[in-house]
Amino acid sequence: MELYEKIKKFWQEAGLKEVDKDGLKSTARDPYMQQLNEYFIGNYLDSNDQVLDVGCGDGSSTDFFSQRVNEITGIDYSQSLIERALQRSICNGNFIQGDVLELDKVFEPNSFDRVISIRCLINLPDAKMQYRALENLFYVLKPGGLLLFSEGYKHGWDGINIHRQRNGLSVMNVVEYNLFFDNLDLEGFFQSRGEVIEFVGFGEYIYGSRVIHPLLTNGNVQHDSHINRVFAELQIKNAFSLNFSECSYAGVYVVKKDA
Ligand SMILES: C[S@@+](CC[C@H](N)C(=O)[O-])C[C@H]1O[C@@H](n2cnc3c(N)ncnc32)[C@H](O)[C@@H]1O
Repeated sequence: MELYEKIKKFWQEAGLKEVDKDGLKSTARDPYMQQLNEYFIGNYLDSNDQVLDVGCGDGSSTDFFSQRVNEITGIDYSQSLIERALQRSICNGNFIQGDVLELDKVFEPNSFDRVISIRCLINLPDAKMQYRALENLFYVLKPGGLLLFSEGYKHGWDGINIHRQRNGLSVMNVVEYNLFFDNLDLEGFFQSRGEVIEFVGFGEYIYGSRVIHPLLTNGNVQHDSHINRVFAELQIKNAFSLNFSECSYAGVYVVKKDA
């Protein structure tokens, strides 16, 4: 089976269960990382906005964003996850099953004020598919609209692993079904379509949860632990002022599409 089909099957099966083998939500295994996404993306939403959330999963973050916008549509290729999302009663939201690679067949060009993508495109197995999907995100975004893009980035992954090794911790491997973006290629692409307004890296949270947390617990890391909650709060308050930008393998790019 091709990797693309294997990954799609993974998400179809994930949606059949409430939680995974570790008792975590498979679409957002690190709940405090998700809190950061919701907080920082939420800051860029406006009550007049028409919004698209690609790879919306079970719609839990779509639900959160719906309270800040005029109308929101969630799209995901996993039928089981879309069925879960449809069980939510969001008065200004709707969910449809569809592939990010075919957004241009589903929506008219220039349809949305904001397009959100949280850990969706990293599930595409090669860079060619990822950039086809990125073309689609810009296709459906209105000129002057914002892409709120929170995926996974190679530079920060290498950075956190250097810090882990310095502290006697093992190197983390990217799971088979994820392909992270090369930061320079990605930023080059963004600049060809618009302007990068901001990158909010989650380096402080990542350093706290992926280095300090295992050191404190002797490697017994729980993503839903209060230790991670504290680091998420510190990141939101920008308490460290240390940034740890070299560890930001996750974070939100805010990109304004050319008018
Ligand atoms: C890690 S989960 C993230 C879900 C959601 N964005 C969140 O933050 O909770 C990845 C989601 O992307 C969806 N996905 C992956 N590839 C996709 C594709 N080609 N088209 C549409 N959805 C896709 C999966 O089904 C899954 O729901």
